[in-house]
Amino acid sequence: MTEHAHGAHHHAHGAGHGEGHAHGFDQNRNPEDFAAYLARLEGEDRDAWQRPDEVVAALGLAPGQIACDAGAGPGYFAVRLARAVGPAGRVYAIDVEPRMIAVLEERVRAAGLRNVTPILAAGGEPLPPEPCHAILIVNTYHHFPDGVATLRRLAGRLAPGGRLVNVDFHAGELPVGPPPEHKLSRDDFVAAAEAAGLRVVDERTFLPYQYLVALAPR
Ligand SMILES: C[S@@+](CC[C@H](N)C(=O)[O-])C[C@H]1O[C@@H](n2cnc3c(N)ncnc32)[C@H](O)[C@@H]1O
Repeated sequence: MTEHAHGAHHHAHGAGHGEGHAHGFDQNRNPEDFAAYLARLEGEDRDAWQRPDEVVAALGLAPGQIACDAGAGPGYFAVRLARAVGPAGRVYAIDVEPRMIAVLEERVRAAGLRNVTPILAAGGEPLPPEPCHAILIVNTYHHFPDGVATLRRLAGRLAPGGRLVNVDFHAGELPVGPPPEHKLSRDDFVAAAEAAGLRVVDERTFLPYQYLVALAPR
């Protein structure tokens, strides 16, 4: 199974612009089949194309720093961020879906990690409670109801010199990821980030299906 391979038989139903949500998806744009969704997010095949260690390395985190995983899901990246900042650092892993937070809490407990704080997003926005050196958003920006507003508020939670890093699927048909009508292109994302008062400070192209853009306040 591939992450989010829910495209093929769903996107014929369309996105239902402005009214409710697409067939097979809930109001947070998560697939309604939660167990299958979890399996894709944590699937064994994901590492091969997600290259998580290189993504985390691109954040340039140092031990003792504070990181945020915004839209953390079951914690695929949160546990890796926890290792990058070490026991003296902190990770806020935030999600809007209570079932995701429950899975994340269990995972953090089972891994014996004491530096990860799972948080249920208040008001539908994954805002960390203190300034962060890195805020990572993976495969989640396209879920935000008002992406520009959320980016602006996230930018306000960056520590001096901090970066917001967004990783998301390229537009169009891909073997993994959400249906095309849920996605936005790298250029549309950068335009949204600029509208939110951010500028691109770094960009990596090693991922086969996703863009990776690092931003800082203008
Ligand atoms: C495709 S998953 C990605 C999870 C994780 N970042 C990963 O890479 O494995 C998208 C996540 O975004 C969450 N989400 C959706 N809308 C959100 C919002 N408004 N605020 C925070 N999280 C949200 C979903 O519940 C889901 O866990």
